[in-house]
Amino acid sequence: MVQATVDAPPVLRMRGISKQYPGVQALDNVDFEVRAGEVMALVGENGAGKSTLMKILAGAETRDKGEILLDGKPVHITTPHEAMDLGIRIIYQEFNLVPYLSAAENIFLGREPRARVPGFVDFRTMYGRAQQLIDDLGVQIDVRTPVQYLSVAQQQMVEIAKAISQNARVLAMDEPSATLTEHELQNLFRLIRRLKEQGVGIIYISHRLEEIFEIADRVTVLRDGKLVGVRQVAETSRDELIRMMVGREITEQFPTRQTQRGEVALEVRGLNRKGVLHNISLKVHKGEIVGLAGLVGAGRTELARAIFGADPIDSGEILLDGKPVRIRSPQDAIRLGIGLMTEDRKSLGLILSMTVRENNTLANLKALTRLGFVQLRRERQVAEQYVRDLMIRTPSIEQAVKNLSGGNQQKVVLAKWLFTRSKVLIFDEPTRGIDVGAKAEIYQLMNRLAEQGVAILMISSELPEVLGMSDRILVMHQGRIVGELSREEASQERIMHLATGGG
Ligand SMILES: Nc1ncnc2c1ncn2[C@@H]1O[C@H](COP(=O)(O)OP(=O)(O)OP(=O)(O)O)[C@@H](O)[C@H]1O
Ligand SMILES: [Mg+2]
Repeated sequence: MVQATVDAPPVLRMRGISKQYPGVQALDNVDFEVRAGEVMALVGENGAGKSTLMKILAGAETRDKGEILLDGKPVHITTPHEAMDLGIRIIYQEFNLVPYLSAAENIFLGREPRARVPGFVDFRTMYGRAQQLIDDLGVQIDVRTPVQYLSVAQQQMVEIAKAISQNARVLAMDEPSATLTEHELQNLFRLIRRLKEQGVGIIYISHRLEEIFEIADRVTVLRDGKLVGVRQVAETSRDELIRMMVGREITEQFPTRQTQRGEVALEVRGLNRKGVLHNISLKVHKGEIVGLAGLVGAGRTELARAIFGADPIDSGEILLDGKPVRIRSPQDAIRLGIGLMTEDRKSLGLILSMTVRENNTLANLKALTRLGFVQLRRERQVAEQYVRDLMIRTPSIEQAVKNLSGGNQQKVVLAKWLFTRSKVLIFDEPTRGIDVGAKAEIYQLMNRLAEQGVAILMISSELPEVLGMSDRILVMHQGRIVGELSREEASQERIMHLATGGG
């Protein structure tokens, strides 16, 4: 009798996993597996249960039901420590770094190389090894720098270095690309391929489907906490995955907008910030969406922060509706009608312990206050409206924001700024970490705002988004605006040419 080759059992198998939170069935009898040397992608809409499944795998969250097997044998995972000992590593969507410790200390936290003198850390060895790991990832970070001074992308790379600094059998990455640039992403993919060769089972979560097709072997789709199916990447398509994720047809087209370009709403003249921004001048008209393109480090976020008063400027002028204004703090900016929606929702965006309703109206309580009292009924109506409009997945508006999935937190930030009724809105990577269905909603919302006369400056690293949404595109390179393209002239190639310093 011919013996069929029996595949080795998957390195990881999760069986019948269920998890309930008050009001939410986050996972419902989910099966999931990864083979050694395989990249298994995990996709689904915001709130589908991806992060919850990974937290259960990591022992960071308890499960109500289900079992976990390594190499076909059931294992006991109820604490992060047990998962670590079994060689399971997770790179979380929300970082777990200690802000005031250096990158190196974070990487080796709890297992620092010991010096000969008992009780002392061998810093030289630690810095050396940490630097090696970081250099291998192809990023430029001095590992002695406290992580609070690193950019979001750099912090992400420190997380990754931390996860791979110990031998892993299973490595899960929860939306690593949400904060990375193309260059860093390619470094990460190179690393993933190397780990694959070493037989590590890799789990890769992302909302950017093109990445799935580039790096993954198979893909698991979740919807509403349930397993929808598993596909070989080579045998599926973007359309099929989207259908499985959202359970209906959606168009990926950018919605059209009837622009009525009005007066200049925001003007920046000769703005300088030493070493960061050089002689920046720009105008955004009412009803216009201006895209701000460039590579990471080009100074786009820095420009947004300078306009918003979050960083000081050395010289230059900002005018609103033609009148010079002084903006020394974000409070000044908000009072003048400028909103900044950032990619860094933890520091500038949200108060995580407060509810969806409270976060929603935080930046504009004035609008809800009558005779010194906040009108609760009105506040609730407003919050309910945004939850509906933006399809925020939450059991109620009274849910603490920290209990929402990452993408849904992002939508709350958006709602908050929409409610300020700002005249000028700066969006910094508005759709990072947002699922395909909700992206389309956000684009429609931006269009509606523009049609109502809001001036929008949109920073985005996703070129299709820049091309699809902007009336005009400004390109930055090394702290300068190096080119302007009209909607008609613009193409991916022309933007990249300017962004990489080609004149
Ligand atoms: N600690 C918690 N308390 C209450 N509900 C929670 C908690 N953690 C997660 N949830 C809920 O469980 C569901 C699944 O969340 P999860 O974070 O796993 O989604 P996700 O697929 O990772 O989404 P995203 O793409 O936005 O990151 C969501 O409805 C979320 O609001
Ligand atoms: Mg998540």
